[in-house]
Amino acid sequence: MGNKLSLVRNKKRIGNSGNVKNFDTETNHSHSSNNEFYTVPVRFEEFERLKIKHFVIKTVFEENFSAPIKDLLINGCRVLDIGCGPGTWILDLSSVYTQSSFVGLDISLMFPSQIKPNNADFVVADARNELPFESNYFDYIHLGDMGYCFTEYEFDHVVIPECIRILKPGGWFESQETRRFINNSGPCSEKLVSLGEEFLKTLEIKPSAYSQNDLKKNPNMTNIKEYVKQIPLGSWGGKIGEEFAETFLIALPYFVERDTEENYLPFEEMNELINKIPLEISECNSSVDCVRTFGQKKYS
Ligand SMILES: C[S@@+](CC[C@H](N)C(=O)[O-])C[C@H]1O[C@@H](n2cnc3c(N)ncnc32)[C@H](O)[C@@H]1O
Repeated sequence: MGNKLSLVRNKKRIGNSGNVKNFDTETNHSHSSNNEFYTVPVRFEEFERLKIKHFVIKTVFEENFSAPIKDLLINGCRVLDIGCGPGTWILDLSSVYTQSSFVGLDISLMFPSQIKPNNADFVVADARNELPFESNYFDYIHLGDMGYCFTEYEFDHVVIPECIRILKPGGWFESQETRRFINNSGPCSEKLVSLGEEFLKTLEIKPSAYSQNDLKKNPNMTNIKEYVKQIPLGSWGGKIGEEFAETFLIALPYFVERDTEENYLPFEEMNELINKIPLEISECNSSVDCVRTFGQKKYS
């Protein structure tokens, strides 16, 4: 199956949000991107965080996807990962399912542009705009941890409809996200979650992770299901808990910057709160739910 992006429909943006100018699928050059909604900035720790998280979630679910697409992948199909980050998900799958072709799309150039499997391609594009693909093109579209990247309006009125447009009839859509609350939280993580909620409200981001109830609102989708796994946070959960806590803790200092900037809490107080979290999540046996929601595009 060819993996050339000759399917690019146009490079024109629709909508009015974002600072992304243009993308170039030939060179993979990111021209300018300033993703104001993705609340953790692109920096080295973020690459590492996303990679660790990928392997933790794959281990917990025992697979990179939950939609029933294994046979499609084995026989050869077209796959798109929106918000692919460093491309870990794409690289992992494309080296196993060599008959299928994979495209990773991200607003930032974090993915490999030269050294990659032949059946993997990457493009820089803003998913808040019209996606640069023909209608009815992909067999499977994946969104991993994208809940913080779009406003609720963008999610419901641009991103999901665009995914469905470029999905083939009978093709599968899947979203994977962690829920916005901590199970068995202590006072510090509870406080942090409630500060996070306030912060997300100011950005008009959906207050909860994308779920089957959201997908069921779409009349073009059928066979909708949701799988939830609890991922331990902290050493009480063994190696998985330690690694997952690391992905959580790496992101916290940014919280200090953002939340104190917004004056939710004085810097010292926020710092003190965050310093107490590693011990607290371990003592409380805290965990986070990871949700996979998937559905199939109707044939008619
Ligand atoms: C939390 S990371 C998730 C990365 C990867 N999917 C994963 O599960 O590890 C969110 C990714 O979405 C990208 N992103 C944010 N806003 C975007 C947009 N408007 N269009 C395309 N990608 C976007 C970010 O650059 C980042 O790589």
